[in-house]
Amino acid sequence: MKIAILKETAPGEARVAATPETMKKFITLGATIAIEEGAGAAASYSDEAYREAGAEVLPAARAVSDADIVLGVQAPPAMALAGAKKGAWVAASFDPFRQQELVADYAKGGFEALAMELMPRITRAQSMDVLSSQSNLAGYKAVLTAANVYGRAFPMMMTAAGTVQAARVFVMGVGVAGLQAIATAKRLGAQVSATDVRSATKEQIQSLGAKPIFVENVAGIEGEGTGGYATEMSEEYQKAQAELVSGHIAKQDIVITTALIPGRAAPRLISDAQIASMKPGSVIFDLAVGQGGNVEGSSPDEVVEKHGVKIVGYTNTAGHLAADASALFARNLFNFLNAFWDKEQGRPVLDQEIGDAIRLTRDGAVVHPKLAS
Ligand code: NAI
Repeated sequence: MKIAILKETAPGEARVAATPETMKKFITLGATIAIEEGAGAAASYSDEAYREAGAEVLPAARAVSDADIVLGVQAPPAMALAGAKKGAWVAASFDPFRQQELVADYAKGGFEALAMELMPRITRAQSMDVLSSQSNLAGYKAVLTAANVYGRAFPMMMTAAGTVQAARVFVMGVGVAGLQAIATAKRLGAQVSATDVRSATKEQIQSLGAKPIFVENVAGIEGEGTGGYATEMSEEYQKAQAELVSGHIAKQDIVITTALIPGRAAPRLISDAQIASMKPGSVIFDLAVGQGGNVEGSSPDEVVEKHGVKIVGYTNTAGHLAADASALFARNLFNFLNAFWDKEQGRPVLDQEIGDAIRLTRDGAVVHPKLAS
């Protein structure tokens, strides 16, 4: 059973899908590991460390040659897999609804594409959930980046020269990233408030010591939606939310937006008029900028200044913490394959629930129900 890891090729991608720690664990299971030279360099994992962990460090074509499983952070182009075994598994994020051509290429190449971001949100799969592990780091990094761009301090400081006021931070969207953003902003000493369409988040916001800001007179999503995710809200709700947010946003110094709806463009939460109502020097971090953006005028990987407000957003926020993001992503991949490892066959065998949820292609065809035509 050979597992191969290639250097990521997406622009700006600094993460890597295996660390020396996860390699040792795979080797204990009986697998052999090959990794492309320099694959971990941008995430501070050296070829030397991989060799010491027991991996072969090789040029790309030799690393992938005869592989049974290829691991990736972002799925490699299918042509990079030439030489892998027929029917080889590729476990990575695929962004399958936006990258249908890539998925079709995997089908043509005869590979089995396993989309890690489609892992069902069930208790036993929590340790395999790359969306959670990466969102958590992204929420933290969003706050630090906003703090860095902001020309004032976060905590209240009483000094001999006078008092510095605490920054007001508003977090919009309280999933995994939003909860970490709240916790991080609190730790930095800010006054934090937050909102979401799922009413279940109200208590979570309070338990972190932040103030919930909620639309009260129109039905939001009670409890948890499917798999805990949000759906698109009614026009009435969107209007009430915009009014509520308008009043609140004008008083904020920092806004962190994290709202996503699976399989759709990110909902627009902040309009240009709302940006204009904020004080000059305020900062907005748009974590959804890669999915169309929550903020009007935000632009991927740029600091845009509008009405004196700086709007920031990375397409790959977790990738800005490449070492930790890789360590967690690599553990998610190990936990996934380990959970299904069949000792007798010396390879993983997926069960139906998880297999059907994440398998995009098999035996030359696109097989995922949300993609197959
Ligand atoms: P996400 O990344 O899909 O969305 C971020 C947040 O934006 C969500 O809280 C969503 O409700 C909110 N949102 C969407 N539209 C909005 C709007 N118009 N205005 C304001 N907020 C809006 O969410 P994420 O981080 O993936 O988490 C979603 C849920 O899944 C959470 O309840 C989380 O606890 C749960 N979860 C469960 C797991 C498991 O059981 N294995 C693993 C990870 C998360």
